[in-house]
Amino acid sequence: MSDRSRNLPRRSCLSVPGSSERFLAKAPTIPADMSFLDLEDSVAPLEKEGARAKVVEAIRNLEWDDRVLCVRVNAWDTKWTYADVIEVVGNAGERLDEIMLPKVQSAADVIAMDRLLTQVEINAGLPKGHIGIEAQIESTLGLINVEEICAASPRLETIVFGPADFAASMEMPVLTGGVQIPNYPGDHFHYVFSKILMAGRAYGLQVIDGPFLKVKDSQALRDYCNRTVTLGYDGKWALHPDQVTVINEMYSPTAEQFELAWSILDAYKVATEGDRKGAVMFGDEMIDEASRKMATKFVTRGERAGM
Ligand code: GLV
Ligand code: MG
Repeated sequence: MSDRSRNLPRRSCLSVPGSSERFLAKAPTIPADMSFLDLEDSVAPLEKEGARAKVVEAIRNLEWDDRVLCVRVNAWDTKWTYADVIEVVGNAGERLDEIMLPKVQSAADVIAMDRLLTQVEINAGLPKGHIGIEAQIESTLGLINVEEICAASPRLETIVFGPADFAASMEMPVLTGGVQIPNYPGDHFHYVFSKILMAGRAYGLQVIDGPFLKVKDSQALRDYCNRTVTLGYDGKWALHPDQVTVINEMYSPTAEQFELAWSILDAYKVATEGDRKGAVMFGDEMIDEASRKMATKFVTRGERAGM
């Protein structure tokens, strides 16, 4: 069921090139919340078709514990998308949680994937709606249409930002996707991060930030993570095992936040027992129903992270 993965944590989403048997074999040993086996940009055109069978074999034969398992297919503007879905979902759909669709431009792209999945599920004997969808927003048109995209299908579980393709689509003066533009006063992605987050939350989706390409610089990764952690994103891609540890830590509440959130929930519950009070004092702060909602988010995130 796609609902298996809908609420699982996705702090770290490890990208695994589908053409590499070595990387595929190693992936289940890396403690990422989600692994996605890639058929898109990390796979060379001549290897695209051969990679499908490697991905199918990896899904069927490796032990993936209960992590979210996803395959990124090629975008609709290539010749590979439909066969990626038929071969992978048709042969390894049972354990697969989701298909990630890159370069989504409009709701129609998601609806087309939903319909193709419905047919493949029937022919493979899978329950209807078994496979969820992750939609990548990584072009100007995708960002303009992000609200209709988030509303396009009940299969959608997450919306994902692709900073590298997006920077290219915007013709931003950067050569490394996602890094801060020197001398720009503020965060040049602030609007983009916020717009995607708002659209995703409005439709109950998890919201994920894409890759940070300087894989050897963990301090720079922390700095980047901070840009979306502080807004409320659920997680971020990892391109290398070393990035997974940093990302898991950055997208979990701190022990202090987790404890404080529990104290707020406990205090609010005791004080409002019997529905006699709305707002109550918590130390020198006033808390109310909105405080309960905010605290619940920290507790849910912390529990998902095993706190
Ligand atoms: C990811 O796909 C990106 O383009 O950043
Ligand atoms: Mg991309």
